[in-house]
Amino acid sequence: MISLTLFLLLLASAWSDNSTLPTEYHITIVPEFSDLTFTSETRITIVVQEAVSRLTLNSRGLEIQDPKVYNSAAEEITGVGFTRDTENETIEITFASDLEEDGIYDLVFQASGTINENYDGFYAAKYTKTVSGQKQERTILLANLKYYKARQIFPCFDDLTHLSTYTLTLVRPNDYISVSNTAKTSTADYDTNRSKDVFAPTDPIPPYELSFAVIDFVEEEFDGTTVYSVAKEDTQYVGELSSQVAQKFQELYPVKINKIHQIVVPDNTLVTNVVDNIGLIIYKESAVVYNEIRESVDDKQEIAKLVALSVIKQYQRESFEWWPNYWAKIGTLVSYQYEVLDQLHPTWRLHEQFVTEELLSLLEDDVDGRDISVVLPENQTPDVFTKSQLLKSFSFVRMFSHFPSPADILEDETNAAALSWIENKGYPLVTVTRTFNEVDNNITFVQGNLVLRSLPVNIVFENQEGDSNNFDFVLDRSEIMSNYRDYISSSWFTVNLERLGYYRVNYGTPNWRNLARFLMNSRNDIDTISPLNRAVLIEDAFYFNHMDRLPVTLYLELILYLKRETDFFPIYAFIKTANRIKSLLYLTSSAQTKFMTFATRLVEHLYENIGTSLNSTESHIDTLSRTKILTWMCSFGYAKCQEEMHALLSSGGSTHPDLQELVFCGGMRRGTLENFLFLLDQHMQRGKKRILRSMACTSDTEILRYYITAVVNESAIVHLKEHDRVDVFMAVLEGSDLGVEVALNFAKQYLEQILIKFTQEDIERMFIALSRKLISDPHQQTINAIIECLTDEQKVQYGDLFRTVTNTINNNKKWRSSNIGTIETWLDANEITTVAPGGENTTTTVTANNSTTTSTTTTPSPGGGAADLRISYTLFVVFLLTCIFSSTQI
Ligand SMILES: *[C@@H]1O[C@H](CO)[C@@H](O)[C@H](O)[C@H]1NC(C)=O
Ligand SMILES: *[C@@H]1O[C@H](CO)[C@@H](O)[C@H](O)[C@H]1NC(C)=O
Ligand SMILES: *[C@@H]1O[C@H](CO)[C@@H](O)[C@H](O)[C@H]1NC(C)=O
Ligand SMILES: *[C@@H]1O[C@H](CO)[C@@H](O)[C@H](O)[C@H]1NC(C)=O
Ligand SMILES: *[C@@H]1O[C@H](CO)[C@@H](O)[C@H](O)[C@H]1NC(C)=O
Ligand SMILES: *[C@@H]1O[C@H](CO)[C@@H](O)[C@H](O)[C@H]1NC(C)=O
Ligand SMILES: *[C@@H]1O[C@H](CO)[C@@H](O)[C@H](O)[C@H]1NC(C)=O
Ligand SMILES: *[C@@H]1O[C@H](CO)[C@@H](O)[C@H](O)[C@H]1NC(C)=O
Ligand SMILES: *[C@@H]1O[C@H](CO)[C@@H](O)[C@H](O)[C@H]1NC(C)=O
Repeated sequence: MISLTLFLLLLASAWSDNSTLPTEYHITIVPEFSDLTFTSETRITIVVQEAVSRLTLNSRGLEIQDPKVYNSAAEEITGVGFTRDTENETIEITFASDLEEDGIYDLVFQASGTINENYDGFYAAKYTKTVSGQKQERTILLANLKYYKARQIFPCFDDLTHLSTYTLTLVRPNDYISVSNTAKTSTADYDTNRSKDVFAPTDPIPPYELSFAVIDFVEEEFDGTTVYSVAKEDTQYVGELSSQVAQKFQELYPVKINKIHQIVVPDNTLVTNVVDNIGLIIYKESAVVYNEIRESVDDKQEIAKLVALSVIKQYQRESFEWWPNYWAKIGTLVSYQYEVLDQLHPTWRLHEQFVTEELLSLLEDDVDGRDISVVLPENQTPDVFTKSQLLKSFSFVRMFSHFPSPADILEDETNAAALSWIENKGYPLVTVTRTFNEVDNNITFVQGNLVLRSLPVNIVFENQEGDSNNFDFVLDRSEIMSNYRDYISSSWFTVNLERLGYYRVNYGTPNWRNLARFLMNSRNDIDTISPLNRAVLIEDAFYFNHMDRLPVTLYLELILYLKRETDFFPIYAFIKTANRIKSLLYLTSSAQTKFMTFATRLVEHLYENIGTSLNSTESHIDTLSRTKILTWMCSFGYAKCQEEMHALLSSGGSTHPDLQELVFCGGMRRGTLENFLFLLDQHMQRGKKRILRSMACTSDTEILRYYITAVVNESAIVHLKEHDRVDVFMAVLEGSDLGVEVALNFAKQYLEQILIKFTQEDIERMFIALSRKLISDPHQQTINAIIECLTDEQKVQYGDLFRTVTNTINNNKKWRSSNIGTIETWLDANEITTVAPGGENTTTTVTANNSTTTSTTTTPSPGGGAADLRISYTLFVVFLLTCIFSSTQI
């Protein structure tokens, strides 16, 4: 559990020009819906710090009349000159005589401009509303001024660090409402059809935090928040949750969150999932509406995380000037997000989910040659921060928060311990070994990297009382040895509990073996090692094996205990490693089949335990684990699973959202074109990613090939939204072995479109994921052919990426040559005993080579023949057209 002492951040002042400070803005905005233009009147109060003869403000795309300047006695200053510099987006006001030091002046501007339709700053967006059964096209106006967009509406000191109060007046049609950062204080008629709303002054904020909307929505009151939406459909969850989060956060920390206005807008009216400003949060509908008959527990968690973080960011008011060590600030906000949600929903075990899901992906990506830096480049705004950077920032804060005084590290930009982490790439690999006799218990910790970091370490021995949640010492040399005499009789120890430190740990063979024996022995309580620590052990064991630093047999011995496991997290960690091994064993059908049988046998006891239907008394994690574990068992050829799911899918009835991925993906393994089209139709109605993922579970090459071209082809019949494209590529790649070939050929054939269509970051993600699955010389040759097709410029741009890809393929090939034989021999030699769930160890003994999965549909089947494929393709197109036609009627 994370517990951070709240640290309030001082406002660092680094203004580029300190001669004048704006303190107050009074702005009136009059938008015209008819021609999408607006006028604005702005009064800026400034305090002059030192006598000046000119002032520079920002403006972009505005027609501005000559400004008027008044002194504090409200007398107009004469001799004012005015010039505009469109290139530099500035305007300059010059004075015949200097403005006096300590003088207070008002600058008054009349400006006009256009409301754009490109989601840029102040924009208009259309959506379809149903009014008494009739569909109407309606227009709403939204303002998102992040960053440097305030100057598009009114002249201002658009400097990010200039904090002022803003008092906004907005004119709106009578049948619309207006919303801004603060509460409305008055409303008056503007003309016959329009009203004028005045909002309370904001606290001092930078210009980009100002936000407003003119909408024809309805409102719903919750404790501490108002939610505006088109029709109050499924918005109750956002309202209730945001109110609970604000309450809990204020209970835990001495902060005050003012009333929040939240607008849920139709998807096509907002580019990102959320725009969060102080007092006003705008969400995209699909990112937050919740209805239990449509959304899964997974969706619910994602909504909760998004809403919680947006609400907690309300408190960032204390810390606008946070760019220098942005990672510490944003990482801290994320740690509050997890802490608050963990308290509101302890049974969701979100923190454990973070360690086994997000943190794990991060560790995988952070060694693959992608430099995930948490440093926000100079002169960049936080919107350039990627999700990986955000998660890495949180991982650092999570680590530092377990030091004795975290605030020292997080607040001090020059702290050496922090710098040793943020200035270096990747993360350390630590090896811990033990030598002992009757008097000594010597444990040696080695950080095996060239760069040394201040590495926080904790260690727990078998018979140690209690669970230490803080670090025992800091390893800042390459090696430290300690004598732990008190624990001389312990057979095992674990280091870096719950992966609090951002690093991996390898042990000597005896410790791995003792851990495996301990977990295996039914007299021992496996919870002596917490579920999360068991998950970390499994994951690290495979990682070090793949790095050629641990024999695969140690990994296999460790996972044997899983037949005693019932907790989701260790099994989830295992599933991830098993998927990697299955891909690595690709094209060696006997070893792969044996391994798949073995792996499913290990967790077979859960199939009946979890059940294939929902149980009204089950926990959140039970529901989540059903999807993940059973979907995986189907993918590993577990015959019973595939049969049941195919029957359910083909029955065509409605499927509960929490069973959809299981039934849809599991069923698609044996599914037909008809099943695929059924899913496509489901996706068009609901737009859920899990349906897109399930479609990639097909075992039909032709369908898969057609499906993946939709990633680049805008006019393909399977029409994908922009933000779904990379996910579909990943789904095909991860869906089956067949998908690997399809994805690789797609990457080669459509390289040109891929390079045009995607960002460098997306391209890197796609190729790195692909490379993890490539294992043969022909694979490498295809990659070489891809490299050959690049222009010289692209060869430079993607040089690092393709070096990493080639490296990964080489490592995979190396792993295969040294591990496949060993795995097969080991599997042949080890019998798997399934323990009946009740604890009664009545046994069905199965030898590892008793293959029941010969019918697995994940192996590419040469069957069919060209004629069949042609027929299926024609049918496919016919079906698709019918399908599109029928779904547009809905
Ligand atoms: C503005 O003030 C800050 C802090 O008072 C100072 O560090 C900075 O150098 C000043 N900038 C100028 C241009 O005087
Ligand atoms: C824009 O600013 C630069 C640097 O201050 C200056 O050299 C240039 O002349 C400016 N452009 C115009 C059109 O004044
Ligand atoms: C108010 O609306 C009516 C009916 O749409 C229109 O005829 C009239 O011109 C509008 N008045 C103003 C001031 O826009
Ligand atoms: C433990 O370390 C001490 C100090 O280096 C050494 O004297 C002793 O022999 C070591 N004991 C074992 C069992 O390695
Ligand atoms: C539902 O789950 C509970 C606890 O997990 C179990 O005791 C009960 O038998 C289950 N009910 C059904 C109908 O499966
Ligand atoms: C994209 O899809 C359309 C419709 O299926 C097809 O006619 C077109 O040839 C495809 N374009 C490419 C580049 O594959
Ligand atoms: C069940 O397992 C326990 C502990 O491993 C063992 O002592 C016992 O003999 C086993 N019972 C049967 C029926 O195999
Ligand atoms: C297991 O496989 C080995 C070699 O592949 C074979 O000799 C043996 O008969 C098999 N055992 C069973 C029970 O099928
Ligand atoms: C093992 O294989 C034999 C022969 O194919 C089969 O009869 C038996 O049911 C299999 N055992 C299990 C548990 O699948």
